[in-house]
Amino acid sequence: MIGKRIIIIGATSGIGRALAEVSVAEGHTVGITGRREVLLQEIAAERPLCYHTAAFDITDTDTSIAHLEGLAEAMGGVDAIVVSAGGGNTNAALDFEIEQHMIDLNVRAFTQLVDWAFTYFKAKGGGHLAAITSVAGMRGSRQAPGYSATKAYQINYLAGLRQKARKEQLNIVVTDICPGFVDTPMAKSPVRFWVAPVDKAAWQIYRGLHKQRNKVYITRRWRLVAWLYRWLPDWLHERM
Ligand SMILES: NC(=O)c1ccc[n+]([C@@H]2O[C@H](COP(=O)([O-])OP(=O)(O)OC[C@H]3O[C@@H](n4cnc5c(N)ncnc54)[C@H](OP(=O)(O)O)[C@@H]3O)[C@@H](O)[C@H]2O)c1
Repeated sequence: MIGKRIIIIGATSGIGRALAEVSVAEGHTVGITGRREVLLQEIAAERPLCYHTAAFDITDTDTSIAHLEGLAEAMGGVDAIVVSAGGGNTNAALDFEIEQHMIDLNVRAFTQLVDWAFTYFKAKGGGHLAAITSVAGMRGSRQAPGYSATKAYQINYLAGLRQKARKEQLNIVVTDICPGFVDTPMAKSPVRFWVAPVDKAAWQIYRGLHKQRNKVYITRRWRLVAWLYRWLPDWLHERM
């Protein structure tokens, strides 16, 4: 990871919270965000000198950047930004409200956040941008078409930013963290296997960030699933 000061967007629960705790344990100063202010205060109270907090809804695109700027300023600047906020649902009935919420969160809000982070690091002379995508983004899914499509968007968006950083010779590392299943309430798929405990996932993510990897599979064996899923012939994928 480049530097000591990290903002984790979506750290009130799940992977983001566990990563915040690991990062603090490793000596980082961590800015944590989420809508549930009570939880932010609860986490920060454990190590008040190590945490900064900002409670806001990332889908409120009129105000969220001001919150982020305030948080970065309170931390005296930021070296790494991890977007963990995101989510989804299965949607076999193709309920548009469910899809719309995922598009709002995983596409609209995500784009604003990573664009801000990239521009911030460009102006600063470098930094580390990471986001949690999903192996689900490798291929379309009949059970969760919106989730798989929005995660595919995130994967490609990050790849585009990585290419942009390289082409413009910017000192910006872009890490795509790609989990299979991690044991959080979000993992709702009817079929679950190789489910990683959240602490194990957080440590693997931390190590991947520390090594400034482009892509981190959680857990490592999901790299194989991702590869198989991606290259599965269409005729077979359609029958799954
Ligand atoms: N768990 C898995 O198996 C798995 C697998 C692959 C990928 N992922 C991805 O990993 C990421 C984290 O998931 P998780 O399992 O840790 O889920 P989680 O426990 O539900 O955590 C989601 C975090 O995002 C925040 N968040 C959600 N909507 C928000 C909003 N509108 N504004 C601000 N913050 C918001 C939540 O905070 P508040 O509710 O306080 O706002 C929470 O801190 C997601 O992008 C998910 O797609 C998870």
